[in-house]
Amino acid sequence: MQQPIAILDSGVGGLTVVKEVMRQLPREKIIYFGDTARTPYGPRPEEEVIRFTREIVDYLIQFRPKMVVIACNTATAFALADIRSRVAVPVIGVIHPGARAAINRTQSGFVGVIGTEGTIKSAAYEEALKQLKPQIEVISRACPKFVPLVEQGNFRSDETYKTVADSLEPLRSTPIDTLILGCTHYPFLADAIAEAVGRHITLISSAEETARDISTILQVKGRLALGEAMPVHQFCCSGDPALFKAIAQQWLNEEIELTPIVWQVP
Ligand code: SIN
Repeated sequence: MQQPIAILDSGVGGLTVVKEVMRQLPREKIIYFGDTARTPYGPRPEEEVIRFTREIVDYLIQFRPKMVVIACNTATAFALADIRSRVAVPVIGVIHPGARAAINRTQSGFVGVIGTEGTIKSAAYEEALKQLKPQIEVISRACPKFVPLVEQGNFRSDETYKTVADSLEPLRSTPIDTLILGCTHYPFLADAIAEAVGRHITLISSAEETARDISTILQVKGRLALGEAMPVHQFCCSGDPALFKAIAQQWLNEEIELTPIVWQVP
């Protein structure tokens, strides 16, 4: 039996990473968990995000994953070190891959970062960017209204374009040439974001770089999936299964197998 890659998020946002893993590593089996009953994580206190992330990883470990991907920026900012200390398989997050991609793309040295309140308050991107290039200038902005829009499947309405434009207006007068979508939900709103900040700004989603890191780690460890058989992926969510399935199938452009989970939501 093929061991899967476990990918988790507060909701549907991690599907942006799933799509990239499916594209770059089509033989790898994925088990995905979206905590849609408790989304968003962005406004929650650090201890709560760590507890939720532990609970999900404890659940996913029964599927014997060969690695764990925290495809949620808020959970990466707060819980990556904790989860690494608790499980025996490699664990990666999405912040370092996104920072690396932005450093590679910026010409001006001014990089914007948008994310949840939790991610922006943690300054995790700023630290990751400055660690790679100390002279980089970082302009950050929390966008708490974006995740609920994505979780409702509301990507393209006039309301969405207006909310995104209003939230990002302050970035228009800054010298950034590159903008990190520091929340895995934001690629769902990529068109509205590009329209709001100007289409000349390069948008960075960490999904592509994260999939590349997964590939490198599995290759180094000799754990890449071999053989001709194509995997059947598994998806779990803690909230409304019909809504999750509709968003997932639209984003991934294929049918999915879904296991709804019942959590004791406090
Ligand atoms: C959230 O649940 O608030 C967003 C997840 C993320 O930070 O990627």
